[in-house]
Amino acid sequence: MRIDVVSIFPEYLQALDISLIGKARRDGLLDVRIHDLREHTYDRHRTVDDTPYGGGAGMVMKPEPWAEALSAIAGVAPEIPAADDGDSRPLLLVPSPAGEVFTQAMAQELSTRDHLVFACGRYEGIDERVYEYAAEHYEVRPVSLGDYVLNGGEVAVLAMIEAIGRLVPGVVGNPESLIEESHSEGLLEYPVYTKPAVWEGREVPEVLLNGNHGKIARTRRAWQLERTAARRPDLIRVLDPSTLNRHDRDTLWHAGFMIEDGRIVDKPGE
Ligand code: ADE
Repeated sequence: MRIDVVSIFPEYLQALDISLIGKARRDGLLDVRIHDLREHTYDRHRTVDDTPYGGGAGMVMKPEPWAEALSAIAGVAPEIPAADDGDSRPLLLVPSPAGEVFTQAMAQELSTRDHLVFACGRYEGIDERVYEYAAEHYEVRPVSLGDYVLNGGEVAVLAMIEAIGRLVPGVVGNPESLIEESHSEGLLEYPVYTKPAVWEGREVPEVLLNGNHGKIARTRRAWQLERTAARRPDLIRVLDPSTLNRHDRDTLWHAGFMIEDGRIVDKPGE
């Protein structure tokens, strides 16, 4: 998979040299290219921003450097509109608190793409016309990490590349570890323990020590449901009740939920 990132702080993205993503790059599984937006400025101060039309606080990123950077990555001259060749266009992901929320499902989908391009905005954002311009060469998708505001897109891009990159086949050594993890089936992960069996007077739950794998699997499933009900009840309410067995329903009942008209709802008075 090829990934391009455009930023005015390319050094922020140096974290992509280390750990699993760094190894995947060295192994040739991820072709990550970082670009400095200021390489596409031509004035003495390498200006990338200007005051907003209509007034208001802060600065807006100028369109010209973005147009040139994005055209260079797409391999087109800025003045030539692209032929509309549908979904073979690379995907341009623009981190923004005004985007659609990035989820594990989105990470899964994006991990199957050949080419992702990330445009890291700073200040109050990028001139809106850049999105229209980019749509001639890219499928454009603004994406948000969540309902909070960062100073720029770089930290969000680090998070997204890690979430997407680890799903690319071969990046994580043991693919089984991708199956049983938080969010992969709409539930949070169960709690995990390692040696020693007693630490600071606290014991590992007995069920994990007796080698009864069926019982361990059932208990872990119940822990997942209990933990998700306590921390993320919104995820419980959107589960498909047909995926729940009798044990699951019982666990959810004790956690304050019931099934009514084919949906999971809060028990009255909970
Ligand atoms: N840039 C600023 N805030 C952001 C957020 N919440 N998600 C993604 N990109 C951002």
